[in-house]
Amino acid sequence: MTVERTLILVKPDGVRRGLVGEVIARVEKKGYTISALKMMNADRALLTEHYAEHEGKPFFEPLVEFMLSGPIVAIVAEGNRVIEGFRKLAGTTDPTTAEPGTIRGDLARDQGTKVVQNIVHGSDSPESAEREISIFFK
Ligand code: RTP
Ligand code: MG
Repeated sequence: MTVERTLILVKPDGVRRGLVGEVIARVEKKGYTISALKMMNADRALLTEHYAEHEGKPFFEPLVEFMLSGPIVAIVAEGNRVIEGFRKLAGTTDPTTAEPGTIRGDLARDQGTKVVQNIVHGSDSPESAEREISIFFK
């Protein structure tokens, strides 16, 4: 058994479009457990810490601006291989080409904005997950 935790964020586009319930439902239907959940307004310091790996990239500033544009929902989900499993549920980064059946593939598309808006974030490794959970659930 590899019981893991992952950090999921419903990004401001997902909250604006009323997709919080849809994201939670997909996570629960897959069989993962929600162990923490909160709606919040992120601030720049928190986002800079969360997205530290992207600092200096061209999309960093637009990404932070986007993430500041409205409330987000932070979720901790648990389960066997949940990190990999949620990444599969989310689909690939670019929502235009994300597979239908995934959150991004079904619910998002490229809007021509400065940074791609793709509804959710999911941690990409056990180390990232623990780091990110400690940022959002201090
Ligand atoms: P996430 O971290 O949000 O789960 O998504 P990801 O792993 O699929 O993508 P990542 O490479 O970590 O990028 C983080 C977020 O930055 C935006 N992004 N825009 N070239 C671009 O315009 C670009 N590249 C990345 C997306 O919102 C992506 O989810
Ligand atoms: Mg990422």
